[in-house]
Amino acid sequence: MKTLSIRRPDDWHLHLRDGAMLEGVVGDTSRHFGRAIIMPNLVPPVVTTADAASYRDRIRAAMSPGDAFKPLMTLYLTEHTDPADVEAGQRSGLITAVKLYPAGATTNSHGGVRDMEKAMPVLERMADIGLPLCVHGEVTTPEVDIFDREAVFIETVLDPLRRRLPELKVTMEHVTTKEGIDYILSSKKNLAGSITTHHLIINRNAILVGGIRPHYYCLPVAKREHHRLALRAAATSGDARFFLGTDSAPHVDPLKECGCGCAGIYTSINTMSCLAHVFEEENALEKLEAFTSLNGPAWYGLPANEDRITLVRREEPASYPAKIETGAGPVTVFDPMFPLHWAVE
Ligand code: DOR
Ligand code: ZN
Repeated sequence: MKTLSIRRPDDWHLHLRDGAMLEGVVGDTSRHFGRAIIMPNLVPPVVTTADAASYRDRIRAAMSPGDAFKPLMTLYLTEHTDPADVEAGQRSGLITAVKLYPAGATTNSHGGVRDMEKAMPVLERMADIGLPLCVHGEVTTPEVDIFDREAVFIETVLDPLRRRLPELKVTMEHVTTKEGIDYILSSKKNLAGSITTHHLIINRNAILVGGIRPHYYCLPVAKREHHRLALRAAATSGDARFFLGTDSAPHVDPLKECGCGCAGIYTSINTMSCLAHVFEEENALEKLEAFTSLNGPAWYGLPANEDRITLVRREEPASYPAKIETGAGPVTVFDPMFPLHWAVE
């Protein structure tokens, strides 16, 4: 038996949803994680500070009494977002970041930004006040192949934006390509990237070989193997610009297993076990804490969590459910396709 003690991790990109789904999933995150950046793509989205305050209250109400988990709230950027409201949200301590979804890029993103020019007043204010922009880095242009959308976004949207507003802090969320990793590595400041658990484990074959497997479908979609290897190298390097954002995104099974299935993979419950496996495979267990517990808080200007968790590796594989039951319906849990020997004690 091996053990590993690390500072309590945080999740810098999480979908908790609302209502019965929220109640069904929040405990899977709060069991292991101290904080999480909560995505605002509800229906309707979280667009104002008042929306974020009421969503935070619903999250707290869904948590068990005494649970110390802290949701870090974000605003969904629209072409009508009010810079003064964003600044007030940051000053009050409620708002940790603003999220850019290019319109149509993913689940509930139709209200996102079509014309970046219209968002410039808010982005300029954010650069002034040091509030980070979290980006879903994919173009939505129909002509661009889905496997190229991240690379084209960097070239046509992200890089021009960063040249125009070099003081804006940008988190490139769920990086899935070598181009994304190289872009982050090439930048000297104000750019960092989150990486999901599942993109360290699957490539696009998982979705398409031997039958179509909807539970491995997410956005940005998993890419070729050499991209996965670039993500692994970045995550396990210890480089402070890379940290965990699980993008755990629950959908009930009927909405995944159908003619037009939703994008999203549910990993909250087994993320730490999967990550310990990946870091051990890469001979980098000593870098796990930087990725899950140190680099993220440093980037967001927060202290690392004071308390610790212990991961234990046993000979017999750890057991976790294939599905969780929520009040909204069953949600399939990410299957890494290898036995998980590590578990959080
Ligand atoms: O796979 C995804 N699911 N990617 C996203 O960007 C959104 C998320 C969701 O909300 O379901
Ligand atoms: Zn997401």
